[in-house]
Amino acid sequence: MGGITLLCRVGYSVTLHEREGRGVQERIVDEVAAALREAKSVVVLTGAGVSAESGIPTFRDAMEGLWEKFDPMELATPEAFDKHPRVVARWYDERRLQCASCKPNPGHAALAEMERRLTGKGGRFTLLTQNVDGLHQAAGSANVAELHGSIWRWRCLRCGLTREERGGAFDRYPPRCECGGWKRPAIVWFGEGLPEEALAASERALRSCDLFFSVGTSAVVQPSASFIHVARSRGAKTVEVNREPTPITRLVDWSIRGKSGEVLPALVARTWGGAEGGT
Ligand code: OAD
Repeated sequence: MGGITLLCRVGYSVTLHEREGRGVQERIVDEVAAALREAKSVVVLTGAGVSAESGIPTFRDAMEGLWEKFDPMELATPEAFDKHPRVVARWYDERRLQCASCKPNPGHAALAEMERRLTGKGGRFTLLTQNVDGLHQAAGSANVAELHGSIWRWRCLRCGLTREERGGAFDRYPPRCECGGWKRPAIVWFGEGLPEEALAASERALRSCDLFFSVGTSAVVQPSASFIHVARSRGAKTVEVNREPTPITRLVDWSIRGKSGEVLPALVARTWGGAEGGT
């Protein structure tokens, strides 16, 4: 999957094809819990919805989504940085500082618990995230591939040095490297290639998974949006957890409608026992 670049499909229509109603949803959670107990290799793809309950805005939710208020072409492309380096660097630094004030929520904790449970009995668990906030790792997830990079790492455009930036606001924009070069966030912008290592990890995990989850993502940004097709073609069962329907809702075996911070702890508790809402 090398050389794959970030692409977005604009606009989508959804055919509602899910089983509605609370009793039905409860049964679906039971079925997914049974599949999790049986699973030997699980892949979870996450998006901005997983961090929404930590206070980090999503991109495409009506009203609150970042791309509802800002034009991604003016902020999330290399051309935008070339044109307005100060504005773009400052915008990402504000997002970095916002992430610094946020903590993992019960959805992140449940995914970390899912990994511990599965690997504890010799299974495999891979978390593929489009999120750049590092909250999965902060919650204790170990096997995480960051498909879109990280808001915490900034890379010098002159010498290539990449460093973690955990301090306060930069004193100027764009921030400068010791070599004098400009630094940019090590985030994948539209039209750029995804990190080779994260893509290779995704390919490996998808090739062998028997259960695939898509959680809190609108499933419109490629290549992540196509992971479900890869998983399905390899025979994996598929689950979506989302507050809203998405283009993949009608493709999955089980669609669970709700907030990931509520659904995932309940699912973990249903699968392995323990108090719902905590892990
Ligand atoms: P989006 O903002 O496109 O989608 C967020 C999804 O989360 C939507 O489908 C919501 O319905 C759902 N959602 C919101 N709150 C939720 C909650 N509490 N529980 C469950 N679901 C919830 O975000 P992504 O799909 O992550 O790329 O967007 C993909 C990429 O597009 C991002 O990584 C970003 C963006 O441009 C970069 O910045 C490189």
